[in-house]
Amino acid sequence: MIKLLFIGDIIGRPGRRAVAALLPGLKAEHDFDLIIANGENSAGGFGITPKVAEELFALGIDVLTSGNHIWDQKEIEAYLPKNPRLLRPANYPVGDLGSGTVVVSLARRPEVKVGIINLAGRVFVGPADCPFRTGKVLVAGLRSEAAVIVVDFHAETTSEKTALASYLDGRVSLFVGTHTHVQTADERIMPQGTAYITDVGMVGGRNSIIGMRADRVIRKFLDGKPRRYEVDKSDTWFSAVIAEIDESSGRAQSLQRLQIPA
Ligand SMILES: [Fe+2]
Ligand SMILES: [Fe+2]
Repeated sequence: MIKLLFIGDIIGRPGRRAVAALLPGLKAEHDFDLIIANGENSAGGFGITPKVAEELFALGIDVLTSGNHIWDQKEIEAYLPKNPRLLRPANYPVGDLGSGTVVVSLARRPEVKVGIINLAGRVFVGPADCPFRTGKVLVAGLRSEAAVIVVDFHAETTSEKTALASYLDGRVSLFVGTHTHVQTADERIMPQGTAYITDVGMVGGRNSIIGMRADRVIRKFLDGKPRRYEVDKSDTWFSAVIAEIDESSGRAQSLQRLQIPA
C-alpha cells in the first residue's frame, strides 16, 4: 500500500506559510510516499515563479500541478521545460512548452512508479483540447510505465469533473478536481477503483472569496469595475486529501479529506 497526499491550490504567501507550518507534522504522522500540490496561485495569488516553485519543492512537495493561472508570471515559461516536476495542463495547445505529465519513482521504493497527469476543463474556463480524448490517450500511454496514476483535473463545473472521473474510472488510481478552491464532501472510491473528489479545496483564507480579500471581490460585483484582487491573509486553512492505493493493482483503498486551520 502506498500513501499519497494531494494539497489543494496554495494561495500566495499565506498558503505557502500554512504548508510550511503543517507539512512536517502531517509527514511525521502519515509517512507519505508522495506529496503533490496544485501551485497555480502560489505567487501572490496569480501564477507561480521559479523561486516559489523551488520553495515549495524544498518543503517536501514532489510534484506541482497547475491550471489556468500557469502563464500569469512570465518567468515560468523558461522554467517549465527545465523542471519536469512542475506540470501545466496537458491539453493546452502550447507544443513542447513544459509538460502535462510526469512519471516519478517513489524515493523509498524506486521500483514503484507513479504517473501524474494535469488536465484542464473546457466549461467556463479557457480554450483547451478535449480533456476526455487527451486524458484517455495519456492514461493509456502511462499505464505501461506506472501502475499508479494520479489526475489533477483543473476545471470549473462539477459535471465536467465527475464525467471525466467516471470516464477514467478504473484506469487511474486517484482523480482530484481543483480550481474552484472550495472542498467538496463527495470523496469516494468509484465502482472500478478510482478514488475521486470533485474539488480538493485550497490552502487559503477561510473567510476569503476563493482566496482573495472579500471586500475587493464584493466591490467588483457591485460596480463591475476592473480591480486588482488581493490575497486574503487572515485565518488560513489547509485543504488536502490522503489516498491509500494498492500499488500492484492500482486500485484505491481509501480517500480521506483534510481541512486544518493553520
Ligand atoms: Fe486556483
Ligand atoms: Fe484555476
